[in-house]
Amino acid sequence: MVRARIIGTGSYTPKKILSNCDLEKMIDTSDEWITERTGIKERRIAADGETTSDMAAKAGKRALEMAGIGPDEIDTIIVATVTPDMDFPSTACFVQHKLKAHKAASFDIAAACSGFIYALSVGDSLIRSGNSRHVLVIGSEIFSRITDWTDRNTCVLFGDGAGAALLGKGTGEKGIISTHIHSEGSSWKLLCASSHEENAKTFIRMQGNEVFKVAVRALEEVAIEALEQNDLTGDDIDWFIPHQANERIIQATAKRLNVPMEKVYMNLQRYGNTSAASIPLAFDEAVRNGKIKDGNLILFDAFGGGFTWASALVRW
Ligand code: ACO
Repeated sequence: MVRARIIGTGSYTPKKILSNCDLEKMIDTSDEWITERTGIKERRIAADGETTSDMAAKAGKRALEMAGIGPDEIDTIIVATVTPDMDFPSTACFVQHKLKAHKAASFDIAAACSGFIYALSVGDSLIRSGNSRHVLVIGSEIFSRITDWTDRNTCVLFGDGAGAALLGKGTGEKGIISTHIHSEGSSWKLLCASSHEENAKTFIRMQGNEVFKVAVRALEEVAIEALEQNDLTGDDIDWFIPHQANERIIQATAKRLNVPMEKVYMNLQRYGNTSAASIPLAFDEAVRNGKIKDGNLILFDAFGGGFTWASALVRW
C-alpha cells in the first residue's frame, strides 16, 4: 500500500520576543491573567519587512535539509496561511521562487488554524495518487499584522512563525495513516479577520468564550473520528499534538480522549497561537528534541476560523 511519509520537518520563528510583561505596558492586562487563561508566556513577532513567505521558505529549507532532498525534487508546494504576502500571487509561489524549486507547482490553502492539516490532507492525496513524488507542506503566519494591539481580548493570544513537513512516498507502516477535514461556515462571525468599515484595516475579531465551547467539542469529535476509523483508542497514541491555541482547551480535549498530559506536546507557552503554523512548529520541535521516537503514533488535531476542524494520524 502506497503511503505518504513525512521524511523531513523544519520550522522558523522570528527573533523578536513579546512577553506578557511587555503586554502589561501596552494594554490593561497582567501576566497572571494571560498565563491562567491561556498558558501563554511569550510570542514571537516578525521583523519589519519580513514576510510570510520568508518564514515559510526558511522552515521549508530545514525540512529539505533533514530529508536530504534538493529543491528540484519538489513537485508541489502547499502553503497553509490566512496571512499571505499579498492577495496574489500565492505565498507558495514566493516560496517556490525563494527555494529555487524550479519544477514545483505551488498554491495556498486558507483554513485558518486547521490549515496545516488541510494542506497535509491534500499533499497526502497527491502522493498516494502518484501525482507528486515530493510535496512540501508549510504552515506560515504573521498574525501580528492583523492583530488590533488595543484589543486585549485578542492581542495577547497570537504570534508569528512557520513550520514545514516534506512528504515523500512510503510503502510500510510509517507515514500518514488517515486525515479528516471538516467545515461549517454559519458561525463565521465568532472568529474572523475583517474591517469594521470600508478601507479600514483588517483585524482579528473573536468571541473567545463562544469559540472555546465549539472548539473543545469539535476537537474531540474529529480526533475520535480518526481513532475509530483505524480501530484505535486514546491509549494507542504516543504523542498528541493539538493546535496550540489555549492550554485549557488542550487539557479539556486530552481528558475527553483519555490521553494523559505526559503524551501531549505543547509549546504555546513560548509561541502563543501561530494559527496554521502551530502544529508543524510543535511537531518539528518534538522531532528535533528527540521526544518523538521511531515508530511513534502521533495524532494531530486542529480547530480554527471558518469554522474549520481537522485531524490526522501519522506513524513516524
Ligand atoms: N487581560 C485581562 N483581562 C481580560 C483580557 C486580558 N488580556 N482579555 C479579556 N479580559 C477580561 C474580559 O474583559 C472579561 O472581563 P469581564 O468579566 O469584566 O467582562 C474577563 O476577562 C473574562 O473574559 P472571557 O472572554 O470570558 O475569558 P475566557 O476565560 O473565555 O478566556 C480566551 C478568553 C482566552 C480568549 C478564551 O476564551 C479562548 O482561548 N478562546 C478560544 C480561542 C481559540 O481557541 N481560538 C481558536 C483558534 S484561533 C484561529 O482560528 C485564528
